[in-house]
Amino acid sequence: MLDVVISRPKLPAAGALVLPVEEGGVAQALDWNELDAVTGGAVARAIQAAEFKGRKGSTVLVLGPGAGLSRVVAVGLGRAADVTPLIAEEAGGAAIAQVVCEENVALASAGLAPVVAAHFALGASLRSYRFDRYRTTKKAEDKSRLARLTLLAEDQRAAESAWGGLKPVAEGVFLARDLVSEPPNVLTPAEMARRCEGLSELGVEVDVFGPKEMAALGFGALLGVAQGSVNEPRMVVMQWRGAGGKAGKPLAFVGKGVTFDSGGISIKPATGMEEMKWDMAGAGAVIGLIATLATRKACADVVGLVGLVENLPSGSAQRPGDVVRTYSGQTVEVINTDAEGRLVLADALWYCQQRFDPLFIVDLATLTGAMVVSLGHEIAGFFSNDHLLSRNLRAAAETTGEKVWRLPLDEAYDKQIKSDIADMKNVGGRPGGAITAAMFLQRFVNGKPWAHLDIAGVAWASKDAPTVPKGATGYGVRLLDRMVRDQYEA
Ligand code: BES
Ligand code: MN
Ligand code: ZN
Repeated sequence: MLDVVISRPKLPAAGALVLPVEEGGVAQALDWNELDAVTGGAVARAIQAAEFKGRKGSTVLVLGPGAGLSRVVAVGLGRAADVTPLIAEEAGGAAIAQVVCEENVALASAGLAPVVAAHFALGASLRSYRFDRYRTTKKAEDKSRLARLTLLAEDQRAAESAWGGLKPVAEGVFLARDLVSEPPNVLTPAEMARRCEGLSELGVEVDVFGPKEMAALGFGALLGVAQGSVNEPRMVVMQWRGAGGKAGKPLAFVGKGVTFDSGGISIKPATGMEEMKWDMAGAGAVIGLIATLATRKACADVVGLVGLVENLPSGSAQRPGDVVRTYSGQTVEVINTDAEGRLVLADALWYCQQRFDPLFIVDLATLTGAMVVSLGHEIAGFFSNDHLLSRNLRAAAETTGEKVWRLPLDEAYDKQIKSDIADMKNVGGRPGGAITAAMFLQRFVNGKPWAHLDIAGVAWASKDAPTVPKGATGYGVRLLDRMVRDQYEA
């Protein structure tokens, strides 16, 4: 990960310099440490030639400006009065993308509040993410050389403390992105559970359930999905107790962790099937979130629960027509083995509310193609039985830029999942496919305050965004960390 260090505001003698500029504030920015003087006016001339005014998201790259610097990037923040942490993050991301060939990058934060400067660094850090583990032949000149970002701050202590609260966010997002990027032959349910166990180093209590334990509990739905694969399923319970022993209900986060979704006997078409390695992105986000909360020692009791399975066709695979008994006791007729996520979540959700009686449950799942049709790749859809939780999710989405849009739960959709022989069936037909999936899940939360985030459209990006390089997005970590921070910490 990009190493972020805080230092006195002194012009670096080499490497790259990033210059955040507020709209109309070009002169002040250049004045900083006489940047203009030491570069012989090179930066000012470039900015003028580019007609750069500091507009939000705009950048000017100045190559070889002199004074030992190899590059200066001016990046616009928009109007001073309107600068938010999110705008700073996006500017940080846009700027760092221009200097990936540099090892050392300094950030001139003069004029920025320490918190804003720290968010600028967070954005830069998030954009610098790479997943290069399996590249052995990439030439050095094609690789990112970024190693260190030095935040030049007047109030070093304030900057240190602001960055201290944000660095764990970058780490949690990176963990989630790593998990989602891993190929499915490497990241089996057992391997994913092993990686969860790594969180015990952060003070997280981690319990792993294998097929025997889950059979004893009666997880018929989850185990039915898993039965076609030689890779055994797991369920992992991660507990962070940060509330300091104060009595109170924990916050619960549940993730769908299908490490590969072939569709099972209701097999998916070959084209694009490889994408279904990221059908565990909900679980990845939960794991990343717990890592973030534990690393920054969040003052809250939090449970993270992930159901990890592989959905494959084989002689032992679940058939369309099978009826399974869920942990709740309710039975499900499996019409389509590709609607497996809701089966996994059914048992995980019931277990979660039974064992922990949480204040609320938020689940994250790449649950339906219908959600991708509804909202595309920009916004995640959510469903909730609770207005306060919905409001808190929306507020966190607003501040972090991980957007959400609420969709309806309504009994009128229940008839679509009526079964002829069991309590329900696992598909409701094409109309309102994301909604009938949510209606299915609602039957397993036992009336607890709950929100379901269908992240099928936002877990993976096919093009770069300011703070999210293309590939695994780590969606959900920032959103839920923010919600916990702003609403549920003592
Ligand atoms: N993991 C998929 C959902 C998905 C599809 C996510 C495309 C991202 C992109 C899920 O398990 C699934 O296959 N859902 C089916 C449900 C259907 C059979 C009712 C779907 O959406 O097609
Ligand atoms: Mn599926
Ligand atoms: Zn799936």
